[in-house]
Amino acid sequence: MRFFKPALLTATALTLALGACSAPTPETQAPAIEQTIQKIIKHDKFTYANYDQVQVTHLDLDLDVKFDEKVLDGMATLDFKRIVEGSTELVLDSRNLLVKAVAIENADGEWTPADYTLGEADAAFGSRFSINIGETATKVRIGYRTSPDAEGLQWLSPAQTAGKKHPYLFSQAQTINARTMAPLQDTPAVRITYTATLRTPPELLALMSAEQDTGPIDGEYHFSMPQPIPSYLLAIAVGDIKFKAINDHIGVYAEQYILDASAAEFEDTPLMEQSNAKLYGPYRWGRYDLIVLPPSFPFGGMENPRLSFMTPTLIAGDKSLTNVVAHELAHSWSGNLVTNSNWRDAWLNEGFTSYVENRVMEDLYGKDRAVMEQALSLEDLKRDIADAARPELTQLKLPVDMAHPDDAFSQVAYVKGQFFLMFLEQRFGRANFDAFLKQYFDHFAFQSITTEDFITYLHDELHVKNPDALTKEELNEWVYQPGLPATAADPQSSAFENVSAQQAKWLKGDTSAANIETAGWSTHEWLHFLNNLPSGLSQAQFAELDAAFSLTGTQNAETAFAWYMQTIQGGYAPATNALESFLMSVGRGKFIYRLYNALNQNGQSEWAQDVFSRAKPGYHPIAQRRISDILSPK
Ligand code: BES
Ligand code: ZN
Repeated sequence: MRFFKPALLTATALTLALGACSAPTPETQAPAIEQTIQKIIKHDKFTYANYDQVQVTHLDLDLDVKFDEKVLDGMATLDFKRIVEGSTELVLDSRNLLVKAVAIENADGEWTPADYTLGEADAAFGSRFSINIGETATKVRIGYRTSPDAEGLQWLSPAQTAGKKHPYLFSQAQTINARTMAPLQDTPAVRITYTATLRTPPELLALMSAEQDTGPIDGEYHFSMPQPIPSYLLAIAVGDIKFKAINDHIGVYAEQYILDASAAEFEDTPLMEQSNAKLYGPYRWGRYDLIVLPPSFPFGGMENPRLSFMTPTLIAGDKSLTNVVAHELAHSWSGNLVTNSNWRDAWLNEGFTSYVENRVMEDLYGKDRAVMEQALSLEDLKRDIADAARPELTQLKLPVDMAHPDDAFSQVAYVKGQFFLMFLEQRFGRANFDAFLKQYFDHFAFQSITTEDFITYLHDELHVKNPDALTKEELNEWVYQPGLPATAADPQSSAFENVSAQQAKWLKGDTSAANIETAGWSTHEWLHFLNNLPSGLSQAQFAELDAAFSLTGTQNAETAFAWYMQTIQGGYAPATNALESFLMSVGRGKFIYRLYNALNQNGQSEWAQDVFSRAKPGYHPIAQRRISDILSPK
């Protein structure tokens, strides 16, 4: 049976995109209409950029990092090409940028002032920045400075760092905050190379998502990213940052206090790289380094190319949370090499990466750990599906009317995406599917693509050769329908079954907490135990667990989070002080958004507001916005 033909696929996607109920597009359709439809489907509505007409190809930054004013100040020079011949307007994204001057380069190499307009500012998306580029210019130069409120930048005072002596700056551009750092076409559909010069206080080190400056620490640093990347991978970190090598092309940057611990925690990164490369082809980015950021970093990790940004909450001392390293490294293939061209296709980044991450974990640490991680993820996915604001947000291909691109990053993109690829692997066979994915990464290397590009490629390269492996309906359900298909795997972990059995015994009163055999439990088993405690535990039961296992104040951030979610729901007051210090010291969104939400929903919104008002100055601007929305919904 024939699978998705591109024409039928287009019609399906368009129907879903426009919410219409029309019949499939006839295959005889005129090519011009077909092209228009393709454009409508593909267009990124979270950018003002006119990237269908003119595209930026290279960015050069020349910036002073001014800690006293909390701004980047200098120039951005953009090379561009006309996609539509004769275009005289270049449209960029900008948010909270102060534009000082704009010039274009004439054919004779001279710079002349250019007309431009900055549109009205939208609170989330910023301003449309339109520049008259005339008919011949191929470069534009913009003198500008960022705002102290730039959502993509966190400026830490010396007091907010571990070393206490020097300030610190780090960026977070995904999804649409690159436009708060520089004027550019802020869409994953456009790829640019970049070069940069940063001037900082002379004693500080500057790093970017690029080839690092290996010269002396002197306050002037030069960077080059020769591979074309989407804007959301532009990244900066500046601070009193030290380096420790793990091998000749992998190492860790961090403040001194956590440098050795970080290098030890992440010592398996070279093995992860080898495993990844063995499965999916060579690592194509030169060096791979990690930077362990201050605790206010709002994510577990961020896949900035050549330099993943990591939360210090991963430094547990036992390598139990290093799947996040496998994840960010895996983005060097899925996401950074082959990129979603629209945030509606975020699962192409995160679902593929979660799948690759889990394959690498299986390869290095065995099936048991990989299956435990699948099972924990599946529990999270089921919760997110149940809590979804509307069913369309549980589709892999997300609806056209998503309010903000950050809404694309629920467990649906990650875990439903991962389980879809596990389903394909199971149906086509591991050997076939591995070969296919390796070829996919090579075929689309350094390109930005849509879900439909993937489906077409899957059809052409794998399904035509194995036509009985799956039906069109099964595929359609996974990609375009809400919820979790019945064909999803159900990972069975015998270790988790043992944990559940012991838990059941304790709940029945057949054994005391102190007698639960936890001696060999990994963090994963603890998470399974804590996440599956039933609601309605008595205060005595909470106290019994706490006394037996010292859960309140535990140093493993994942375990602590799982415990506090339970103590909030169960109203267990003895955990309150430790929860408060957790909220005051950890800025990782995955933990604190859910903790504030749980407090809000369990009659503790006043206390939550009070803690937030004190913790807020230390949180990243992204986290400040998200928690404000949780505690005072608009
Ligand atoms: N790219 C994401 C982080 C991200 C997502 C930033 C959306 C901004 C918007 C990163 O790769 C990621 O997924 N991090 C996860 C860890 C992972 C193991 C699930 C995180 O931060 O928890
Ligand atoms: Zn990711």
